[in-house]
Amino acid sequence: MTDIAFLLNGTPVTVAGERPTRTLLDWLRDRQGLTGTKEGCNEGDCGACTVMVTDDQGCRALNACILFLPQLHGKAVRTVEGLTGPKGEMHPVQEAMVEHHGSQCGFCTPGFVVSMAVAQKNGATDHDDQLAGNLCRCTGYAPIIRAAEAAATAPVPKWVDDKPARSDGAAPYAPGSADELAEWYAAHPDAMLVAGATDVGLWVTKQLRELPEVAFLHACADLQRIETVAGGWRVGAGVTIAGLRLAMEAPHPAFAELLRRFASEQVRGAATIGGNIANGSPIGDAPPALIAMGATLHLRKGAARREIALEDFFLDYGKQDRAKGEFVEAVTIPETVPDLACYKLSKRFDQDISAVCGCFNVTVAEGRVTAARIAFGGMAGIPKRAAAVEAALVGKDWTLATVEAALPAFAQDFTPLTDMRASAGYRLEAAQNMALRYFHERAGAPVSVLEVTP
Ligand SMILES: Cc1cc2nc3c(=O)[nH]c(=O)nc-3n(C[C@H](O)[C@H](O)[C@H](O)COP(=O)(O)OP(=O)(O)OC[C@H]3O[C@@H](n4cnc5c(N)ncnc54)[C@H](O)[C@@H]3O)c2cc1C
Ligand code: FES
Ligand code: FES
Repeated sequence: MTDIAFLLNGTPVTVAGERPTRTLLDWLRDRQGLTGTKEGCNEGDCGACTVMVTDDQGCRALNACILFLPQLHGKAVRTVEGLTGPKGEMHPVQEAMVEHHGSQCGFCTPGFVVSMAVAQKNGATDHDDQLAGNLCRCTGYAPIIRAAEAAATAPVPKWVDDKPARSDGAAPYAPGSADELAEWYAAHPDAMLVAGATDVGLWVTKQLRELPEVAFLHACADLQRIETVAGGWRVGAGVTIAGLRLAMEAPHPAFAELLRRFASEQVRGAATIGGNIANGSPIGDAPPALIAMGATLHLRKGAARREIALEDFFLDYGKQDRAKGEFVEAVTIPETVPDLACYKLSKRFDQDISAVCGCFNVTVAEGRVTAARIAFGGMAGIPKRAAAVEAALVGKDWTLATVEAALPAFAQDFTPLTDMRASAGYRLEAAQNMALRYFHERAGAPVSVLEVTP
């Protein structure tokens, strides 16, 4: 097996003898003495460990605490230490942070400046979104946003212009194509697949789990494509949430907006759609939207492929219709779903897991409901359709009275749990209110709290 090779702050490095689940954060701090990259939460939530990663897909901000070393093979990594120029010049975002008083205790600052440097390099000026994954407990965000705005117009320093490292050897622990993966996984059915590691990473850093044999999916370029097919798009399992959000902006703006609320820039840049489906979480954000759209899941084991409706994949809490050695290859999303609306309810607007995620796709012709696909996350042990609510709507006139009459059916469809995010009663009422919101939104009423202005 080849060593793991990548560029670190412009210098080629190779890593040998480390376990495949060694995180970049640990390695940077313990083995390289690069302690500018901070450990805050060690679970992808705070952004203190943000690093700049460049590969053939561009430059991304990622959380080093949930990035495993093999995921970096052939790439370029830049830490906060590498933002300074060869003669000690400050990066424009560092200068702007000083100028605008963007730092107090300084613990969060390295993570912020790396996120800001990535945004500056990419020309991204949606600063609130770019920095939603970086938490600051003492400065307050206004000076930091002012610094990001000020730096946005400065030239990008040449020294952060990394070229991904080239390596002749195969990526360690990583099949190079879907075919290679299929063959390997069928022969190693007890192994664990690792895609973006935004779930798996926490099993290592928080649950301290010893993983079985692992295979990383990031080298399967053919799993990272979005292809146009008859009636829609075939989205490879390895497409990141960031990539999917971009692709969905024009055809499915409601879905794209939901994906904007998915975690943070750092997590969206690593997390894959395949991982979001395969993990079977009852609170994953993409499955309810995809079910409401009528998406099809493509599964593969060895040479054998099968397709199922996405909703049929989720059998019970922690149980999916996936055999040992079988993996998610793609999901097909229909081309047009004009009536889709997605509502994510969480305690914080940004960077938070849904308490309830409701997705509605009700077709109305000549004032009458002809079809309904309504799916929820956070309401059951699995992402699930609201079959009784749908039945109460179909065939009826599309009126407020019809929607109100359908509301009790939510209690037939769902027996939600009480947990730290919400009580069962709150969840049920919130789901009902989302149905009302959907009705009013379709009637043109401003329903988003962000749209209501005095
Ligand atoms: C800070 C933070 C915030 C988050 N916020 C959100 C959020 O707002 N909404 C949300 O939905 N999720 C959220 N998540 C959860 C996570 O980001 C998603 O579930 C993500 O899509 C997982 O994808 P991944 O590629 O990282 O999967 P991984 O962690 O690599 O894998 C997850 C599981 O899927 C399996 N797997 C991966 N790919 C395949 C495949 N192709 N075939 C078969 N099995 C596969 C793995 O073996 C593993 O069991 C958050 C996570 C973090 C750390
Ligand atoms: S240490 Fe908090 S996101 Fe990595
Ligand atoms: S400056 Fe102290 S946490 Fe941000």
